[in-house]
Amino acid sequence: MKVTIRPLVESDAYTSVKWRNDPEVFKYTGNTYKNEIKIENELEWIRKVTASPTDYRCAILADDVYVGNIYLTDIDGTSAHYHIFIGNKEYWGKGVAKQASLQILDYAFNKLKLTSVALRVRKANISALMLYKKLGFVEEKADDTWISMRVVAE
Ligand SMILES: CC(C)(COP(=O)(O)OP(=O)(O)OC[C@H]1O[C@@H](n2cnc3c(N)ncnc32)[C@H](O)[C@@H]1OP(=O)(O)O)[C@@H](O)C(=O)NCCC(=O)NCCS
Repeated sequence: MKVTIRPLVESDAYTSVKWRNDPEVFKYTGNTYKNEIKIENELEWIRKVTASPTDYRCAILADDVYVGNIYLTDIDGTSAHYHIFIGNKEYWGKGVAKQASLQILDYAFNKLKLTSVALRVRKANISALMLYKKLGFVEEKADDTWISMRVVAE
């Protein structure tokens, strides 16, 4: 499967709004959506985050099908935070997240020249933890619920 990433565009909202309302996708993330996310909310969110100079917000495409989102946030010239979800669950477990992550990390280290990328993950999110370890993220600290990890430039 050919995986690519590209910056989010407003029309992505019509697909991603469906994922926002799927509790299984956001079960382990930092976001808990208590109310239904409406298309107006998702459009407004995309407009806001794509205008932010400290964010790099991308869509993940698998054979040209839009299947999830991947981001660098809090980009400060040295480091950034990484986030990912595959919203289309039919594409879980097919290596899509790994390929997309390698591409955004390449952008972080080789284009933005960052020295490290950090993330936070719930201990219970086994799939995400396996993915992050395979990408080279190393645990920095942990509490009962969360693990903080970081990968440094080679
Ligand atoms: C976590 C998530 C992004 C993983 O996406 P994915 O496309 O299914 O992951 P991949 O198929 O690329 O797997 C990457 C690696 O992790 C391993 N892996 C993934 N899930 C695993 C699991 N449940 N158990 C063991 N290994 C697993 C894969 O074997 C693969 O390793 P390999 O390249 O050596 O084969 C996806 O499940 C998801 O979007 N979950 C919901 C949102 C979420 O929790 N995001 C993270 C918030 S911190």
